[in-house]
Amino acid sequence: MAMQVEENVPLAPLTTFCIGGPARHFARVQNIKEIVRALSFAKEKALKVLILGGGSNVLISDAGFDGLVIKIEMTGVERDGETLIAEAGENWDALVERAVQEGLWGIENLSGIPGTVGAAPIQNIGAYGSEIKDTLAWVEAFDTQSGQVVRLQNSECGFGYRTSRFKKESSRFVVLRAAFKLNKNGAPNASYKDLAGISRSNLDEIRAKVLAIRAGKFPDLQKEGTAGSFFLNPVVSAQKAAELVRKYPGFPNFPAENGVKLSLAWALDNVLQVKGLSVGGARVYEKQPLCIAASRGSSASDVAGLAKKVSQLVQDEFKIIIEPEVKIIN
Ligand code: EPU
Repeated sequence: MAMQVEENVPLAPLTTFCIGGPARHFARVQNIKEIVRALSFAKEKALKVLILGGGSNVLISDAGFDGLVIKIEMTGVERDGETLIAEAGENWDALVERAVQEGLWGIENLSGIPGTVGAAPIQNIGAYGSEIKDTLAWVEAFDTQSGQVVRLQNSECGFGYRTSRFKKESSRFVVLRAAFKLNKNGAPNASYKDLAGISRSNLDEIRAKVLAIRAGKFPDLQKEGTAGSFFLNPVVSAQKAAELVRKYPGFPNFPAENGVKLSLAWALDNVLQVKGLSVGGARVYEKQPLCIAASRGSSASDVAGLAKKVSQLVQDEFKIIIEPEVKIIN
């Protein structure tokens, strides 16, 4: 059936927060033709565009989105030797599961991350010492600037901590497919302390271990809303980090691309003690304070209000400005 543009489509059920108002216009796309048609519809009507994957990293405002939401639904996975090539609308964790089943190493530490393959390179998803940039070979995207499909090699994607060219040049590219160069003869990546002891495990055991750790740190999406880490860990200058570590002994910190990355979870837990702090139905999650949990019926303004409160506490205590990791849609 040809692509239809619907009106006033509720967005809350399409997000893991289960929050937010409707899309003024809404289209599901299953191929490049439909993407081009949807984009020209938006252009003709001068609408803003929101590309939606699994809805696992967005907070949609209570008023909804007054433009066109394009929901990415291209599916399919191909294997070429040790490379898996997946369409943007594929579920990320299903791809990880397949890689593990087929004995391909490289993305097993990224088990259990909600969302789609297409969204994964946009924020360079990462967990337990792995990032997507470690295995990604290339991304195929529709470049709205040239109107062409382009293939960007890993080195052209501008990857950094939870960022990429797709995020920096926001709304230029629509990700279509991504290829992951995996390895039949890989070895466990046990660099992250939570995974210590896995160095002799097989792929299945590692995946099970990661899923178990995550289940203990994030809310059950069947019961509550969340988008994983709500904030980025702040990256500060070496001098600022040294100052903070002197003042707050034990403050975990790690070398980063352009400074020192601080553990915000540690600061929120041990210094500010904000676990359980709430605004309306939104609260700082008890088991991981970087995460905001929203009970059913919470509003976007509850979540945003809580995020603002937390940011203010951090700023007052540490003189650091923290940034949301979640994309806030107005
Ligand atoms: N910590 C506490 N109290 C807590 C939880 C954590 O003090 O209740 C301290 C501990 O010292 C712990 C440290 O914080 O060792 C780090 O915690 P965690 O391992 O959970 O990692 P994180 O830095 O808080 C990041 C990512 C997560 C990813 C984990 C694991 C960001 C914004 N978040 O969290 O990614 O799962 O590492 O690798 O970088 C996401 O991006 O949405 C996300 C969930």
